[in-house]
Amino acid sequence: MKKIRTAVVGLNMGLQHAYAFHSAERADLRWVVDLDEEKAAKLAGELGCKYTSDWLSIMDDIDAVSICTPHHLHADQSILALKAGKHVLLEKPLANTEEDCLRVIKAAEENNTILMMAYVIRFLPIIRKLKDIIITEEFGKPFNANCWIEGFIPPMPGSWLSRKETLGGGVLFSHGCHYIDLLVWLLGKPVKVSTLGTRTGTEWMEGEGTAHSTMLFESGALGYLETSWGMQFAERRALMHIHTPKALLIVSSDLTTLEAVTEKGRQTLMTHNSHTSPGSFVSGEIEHFLDCIEFGKKPETDGHDALKSLRAIWAMYEVIKC
Ligand SMILES: NC(=O)c1ccc[n+]([C@@H]2O[C@H](COP(=O)([O-])OP(=O)(O)OC[C@H]3O[C@@H](n4cnc5c(N)ncnc54)[C@H](O)[C@@H]3O)[C@@H](O)[C@H]2O)c1
Repeated sequence: MKKIRTAVVGLNMGLQHAYAFHSAERADLRWVVDLDEEKAAKLAGELGCKYTSDWLSIMDDIDAVSICTPHHLHADQSILALKAGKHVLLEKPLANTEEDCLRVIKAAEENNTILMMAYVIRFLPIIRKLKDIIITEEFGKPFNANCWIEGFIPPMPGSWLSRKETLGGGVLFSHGCHYIDLLVWLLGKPVKVSTLGTRTGTEWMEGEGTAHSTMLFESGALGYLETSWGMQFAERRALMHIHTPKALLIVSSDLTTLEAVTEKGRQTLMTHNSHTSPGSFVSGEIEHFLDCIEFGKKPETDGHDALKSLRAIWAMYEVIKC
């Protein structure tokens, strides 16, 4: 089989994509792209590919591209690539407005190209095992899910991360979208949502830097997410607790262990470390993208799927004041 010619644009989170394409048998990583040419040149030297700062100049030499740039660039860059007939793996979130999301989805559909969202957590073995347990109702139906993302990033006043217009919102939209996506994927359709956010503690951000969000699902289950970029001294208890009538399911904060607490005590259901080498954390996601290209499959995380959780977040931002 002819290898799939790939490129990665934006080389911070995109570094992971580049390493994973480099290791994937079906992929031929041709280009790494960044406005910072020095950064691109260094990586290209390491991975044995070409580099440029002008991603539009490489279109004739690729079949697929990972777009890992700031959020306000996602829509226009993806549309350009999709219209050029390239398959796109896009870092989350899809785009900053619903209108832009719909434009990207339309471009993929009209050009018969694959648009996949890089919701990496969904492709981790631990999380796939959790989904299986929930689908098969091995421990019964979940009725409560708590998720704690007590993160920290150093203040970056003036950066694209600090501005609502470029980030698309606050920490809930930017980082929380991973976990709202996860809750929706695990628990189904949300019917009522809310959030409270604060800038206190992360005053360098225009949007909220800490948020507490709640969701009621059609199934009757409740979901809760705490997200923050201001918690420098967090003591992370777990990433996720899911309660069912017969068990408490626990995903460890480093995403390596899935446990169940039942009448029989505490048991480990699975351990798997996805952080073993550069790029290994995103390898499940990258292989799914390559599968979709090779076999013409619809990505599990396509544009329509991504819109479900973004719509829930936009609804959350409609805060009711008392
Ligand atoms: N999945 C995850 O866990 C995860 C983690 C971090 C970031 N992300 C996502 O990755 C994306 C990028 O975030 P980041 O933290 O890497 O941002 P960043 O600002 O640290 O890096 C972005 C890179 O893109 C480059 N760039 C910007 N415009 C460009 C252009 N037109 N052409 C080429 N290069 C360009 C910049 O020079 C920079 O090196 C965002 O969508 C973010 O949400 C995902």
